Amino acid sequence: MKHYLQFKDLRAEEYAYLFERTRTIKTRFKNYERYQPLVDRTLAMIFEKASTRTRVSFEAGMYQMGGSVVHLTTGDSHMGRAEPIEDSARVISRMVDLVMIRTYEQSKLATFAANSRVPVINGLTNEFHPCQILADIYTFIEQRGDIAGKVVAWVGDGNNMANTWLQAADILGFTLHISTPRGYEVDPLLGGVNNPACVKTFKSPFAACEGAHLVTTDVWTSMGYEAENEARQKAFADWCVDTQMMSLARPDALFMHCLPAHRGEEVAAEVIDGPQSVVWEEAENRLHVQKALMEYLLLGRIG
Ligand code: CP
Ligand code: NVA
Repeated sequence: MKHYLQFKDLRAEEYAYLFERTRTIKTRFKNYERYQPLVDRTLAMIFEKASTRTRVSFEAGMYQMGGSVVHLTTGDSHMGRAEPIEDSARVISRMVDLVMIRTYEQSKLATFAANSRVPVINGLTNEFHPCQILADIYTFIEQRGDIAGKVVAWVGDGNNMANTWLQAADILGFTLHISTPRGYEVDPLLGGVNNPACVKTFKSPFAACEGAHLVTTDVWTSMGYEAENEARQKAFADWCVDTQMMSLARPDALFMHCLPAHRGEEVAAEVIDGPQSVVWEEAENRLHVQKALMEYLLLGRIG
């Protein structure tokens, strides 16, 4: 049994399989071909933080594949009333086939997984957001081909997205340029990177974008860090991806953002709504990559 708790839980060749499988599943879906390999399977989705994309993509994806979902939040389950996470995992995993969790500490997710009889997927934690990077890399491949050997520029907070990009660079063989304000750096130990050459850090966000094939950013204040918002607004003022910053990347560079976005903060409207932006394709691909992921975790390789 496999869990998907962080990007490094799968190997490069498993990603190659998943991306190929995503392409097939997406093409069939676009052609209105019914594909329901998960009839009678149930996904429990546990949300301790807000979500639009993650909920819709997992829920729609599961129904499209013939399965069903149970949606739980902290407020309407005993998980918010101090039932031990171990007990919740033991109970929920006896009743469903797959669990997706969005929560705070990665350790909470790991504890759930350690007590689960069924595969567990990380739907975002403070530390990682692997399903989003799965969609981002699939989107890059769809638009530009292989990501190995390319340069991805991360501009902004050293957060769950940045940590996950770091693991992806290590596994898939591209270079990550990171520029964060001082005090908001990524922790390379957290990602557990084997090849330190896959990451280069820059004081200037402009320098980080030079020669990049993809420029990407995220909100200045992630969910759970709202109390720091005022300090972050000041610290991140120079880390807005605008047209000047984009002009330093390669002329064919893409722009991505996991969304939700704040125009005028981490990204200028001209960039996110401009010709280099693929944010809507990126959001849609959450659906397709996660269908491939759920199929893989439940049924293994097809064909
Ligand atoms: N990108 C992402 O995970 O969006 P949601 O918070 O809306 O799920
Ligand atoms: N870093 C953001 C991503 C939201 C999808 C957060 O954790 O709030």
